[in-house]
Amino acid sequence: MTTTVPRPQHYQLRSTSRLRRRLIIVGGLLMLWPLLRLIGFQVPKKPRVVEVAGKFQNNQFISNEDFMVFTDAHDIWAVSRTCTHLGCRLNFKEKEGYLECPCHQSRFTLRGEVLHGPATEPLARYEVETAEGSDTYLITIT
Ligand code: FES
Repeated sequence: MTTTVPRPQHYQLRSTSRLRRRLIIVGGLLMLWPLLRLIGFQVPKKPRVVEVAGKFQNNQFISNEDFMVFTDAHDIWAVSRTCTHLGCRLNFKEKEGYLECPCHQSRFTLRGEVLHGPATEPLARYEVETAEGSDTYLITIT
């Protein structure tokens, strides 16, 4: 035969206050979420794959809103068109052979290295793959 011992009243009070404390902590964390986003905490972006149709010849390029694709005799590569200084969209100076920012005139090589500041970081480079059996290139924007 088992007997149940009634719990003392202070036990129930302690349990209720513990639950209340946990709810306050969870609520506080939820309220902090927008603040964390403001100070730079970001959920990583999903990579996006862009198809580019056509067969590249040596030293050709294509320009997209987000990136540029270049070729030489041995390689094909893509670089971001977003300036690493403050984010303006870069222009390709074909005659001069570099990318230039219209905002503060940073310059980058076609491979994305900094030629001239104020930007100090190189451009993002994106993976370029060829789709099997077609003249389509797949550029993975990260
Ligand atoms: S935003 Fe490009 S140089 Fe400032």
